[in-house]
Amino acid sequence: MKQDIKIHQRHRDTPGSYDISFLDLHTAQDIAAFHASFPMYKPTPFRQLAALAGALGVQDILVKDESHRFGLNAFKVLGGSYAIGRVVANKLGEDLTKLPFERLISDEIRQKLGSVTFVTATDGNHGRGVAWTANQLKQHSIVFMPRGSAQERVRNIEAEGAQVIVGDCNYDEAVRMANNLAQEKGYILVQDTAWEGYEDIPRWIMQGYMTMALEMEDSLKAMKKKPTHLFLQAGVGSLPAAVAGFFANAYPGKDKPIITIVEPNAVDCIYRSAVADERVLIGGEYFTIMAGLACGEPNTVALKVLMDYADNFISAPDELAAYGMRVLGNPLPGDAHIISGESGAAPFGVVAKILADPKLTALKEALKLHKDSVLMFISTEGDTDRQGYRDIVWDGKYPSA
Ligand SMILES: Cc1ncc(COP(=O)(O)O)c(C=O)c1O
Repeated sequence: MKQDIKIHQRHRDTPGSYDISFLDLHTAQDIAAFHASFPMYKPTPFRQLAALAGALGVQDILVKDESHRFGLNAFKVLGGSYAIGRVVANKLGEDLTKLPFERLISDEIRQKLGSVTFVTATDGNHGRGVAWTANQLKQHSIVFMPRGSAQERVRNIEAEGAQVIVGDCNYDEAVRMANNLAQEKGYILVQDTAWEGYEDIPRWIMQGYMTMALEMEDSLKAMKKKPTHLFLQAGVGSLPAAVAGFFANAYPGKDKPIITIVEPNAVDCIYRSAVADERVLIGGEYFTIMAGLACGEPNTVALKVLMDYADNFISAPDELAAYGMRVLGNPLPGDAHIISGESGAAPFGVVAKILADPKLTALKEALKLHKDSVLMFISTEGDTDRQGYRDIVWDGKYPSA
């Protein structure tokens, strides 16, 4: 492996103090009711990989499979659709509870709103969710993407009627381009990351992700399981902060699962921020196969949640995301088959390797993993770049050492 697994641990005696009430159960239930009004809504599978748990010496491995979300192959649409719902509700002076899907996409609402253009920047999945929602509303969308974006991801966004602009820039620069255009033209920026002065819409996006966390919690209850560990991948940190905040609220105090954040070595801004104890920005050119996690500037709100509620921050090599894709795609007898893309499989790959490799026992102990551990993962995307998926899973690109 070209680079190693790096870990930073935050040991604290008192629970976090940052206000995470915006990620509580009641808010999650209201938002889930909004999403449940979508005809394509259905909880995604929460897979219990019992055979693998036995083989790796833990009690349970639970994986939420977001490749089944709205036919869009990733969880991200939950955030964009809820935020756009809130924007529309605010513009019309209505309560979102009065705007279920059918009414939201109706001609009545289209006429009241007039013509609106939503703008965003994306590594792929968020932009597809925004473009999809704009398309449902018969509105316009413009989506900026960074250099090197996979053709399939570009085409999927264009297929929703969006104008896609692939810049010669990294992700964070694409965000600035989207913001500049929105400011200049009076378009609505629906960005899944926050900075000083732009925090409302990103908060709604984070809240939208709670529908997925609530589904997990409902499944845990039905299975009568209490999670001991939650592993979450981070790009700008909106996803892991939303899910971490939700579970910190659902399991307060000592019941909170141990929360571990995973990022690629190439661009690990949350890990570096945790080490420095302040927001660290990574600029310039970087490359990782985990396109959805290729972000250099943490969401300001999400970072505060993670600093206060996450226990471990891991920076990991691309090879481990590839390993996770192969293990999930080739299950042991009796376990479900999960098609997981690079960003989806990263935390799972890291942990599966730590459990399987005796040379990594120190990390296993640092993460407090043992035979009674109940591990939760989110496979946040399926094969959103099918060529890249096959290069790895069929042709063995990025082999483990
Ligand atoms: C598939 C996938 N997983 C995880 C993430 C990380 O989410 P965030 O940037 O909110 O941390 C992304 C972001 O685009 C993604 O596309």
